[in-house]
Amino acid sequence: MGSIPITLSSEKKKKPNQDQLEFGRTFTDHMFVMDYSNEKGWYNPRIMPYQSITLDPAAIVFHYGQTVFEGLKAYLTQDEKVHLFRPEKNMERLNRSNDRLCIPNIDEEFAIEAIKKLVHLEKDWIPSAPGTSLYIRPFVISTEAYIGVAPSKTYQFIVILSPVGAYYKEGINPVKIAVESKYVRAVPGGTGEAKTGGNYAASLKAQELVAGSGYAQVLWLDGVERKYVEEVGSMNVFFKINGEIVTPSLNGSILEGVTRNSVIKLLKHWGYTVNERKIAFEEIYNAHKDGQLEEAFGAGTAAVISPIGEFSWNEHKLVINNGETGEVSKKLYDTLTGIQYGTEQDPFDWIVEI
Ligand code: COI
Repeated sequence: MGSIPITLSSEKKKKPNQDQLEFGRTFTDHMFVMDYSNEKGWYNPRIMPYQSITLDPAAIVFHYGQTVFEGLKAYLTQDEKVHLFRPEKNMERLNRSNDRLCIPNIDEEFAIEAIKKLVHLEKDWIPSAPGTSLYIRPFVISTEAYIGVAPSKTYQFIVILSPVGAYYKEGINPVKIAVESKYVRAVPGGTGEAKTGGNYAASLKAQELVAGSGYAQVLWLDGVERKYVEEVGSMNVFFKINGEIVTPSLNGSILEGVTRNSVIKLLKHWGYTVNERKIAFEEIYNAHKDGQLEEAFGAGTAAVISPIGEFSWNEHKLVINNGETGEVSKKLYDTLTGIQYGTEQDPFDWIVEI
């Protein structure tokens, strides 16, 4: 694959106002692109001006969704250093998703080098206002013009960057989540643990139906019994019940979040018992009824730590911790962002400095 040539953009876009940053609406001046063919493997890595891409209308990605993506962030520290958070975990997961979608693996170290080079070039785009960062979106698309159902023979691996603020309009305040009883996100043996577009496309209907009633997202139950908690569309979910933390165990249909893994490590480091196991939503309902559901929160790259103030489940409404941010959620948010922005010790060597 070799070195990564850079073609600089002749124009510089206007940067958005940092205090009004939305999630994922503006993109920087450059992007990374690399091609694949069965004959050449991955080749022609390059950084070039951010631009539209031209694909044949028969490209497989448009028809059968053979595509995967990742999400990670670059953080600007007070002394102007640039931090990535556990990028190797994202690249490992990218290749697990690639495997599931029959997409050829990408050299993980090379992909991290490409991301570092692109982020370094776009350093001026990393916002510095509290809670903001530069979201990094690596993705792979299948580009072969063929409408038979088969793995593509050609691909592109692309990385784009977007300065972002909070994912939810609630910011770091508690969100309301509706437990979804009709639609399912994933089934055993399906693509639930891969980060692929189809999972997100399949989530839109349920999401749309609850959005009008003030719910930020839906909580997915398992696809077979519709009983066990899986995840929220853009984050993994945790509960604090009677002092103990529980989160659904990874079962093949839940996305293995990097933030999820980091949260579990931090909680154990602080001495909490963390149980990864099957959790029926009915158990959450009963714990709430008995006054034992102390906190609930989501964890994800985009969402960071997002306290959950209310669940609706069929005709029931469960208000958690009076709709306020709980102690554990707050400590996790502060510690995790502290490590990411370099204001807290990094006991696990998670930070990669660019
Ligand atoms: C992330 O947290 O990075 C995600 O990929 C969630 C998303 C679909 C916005």
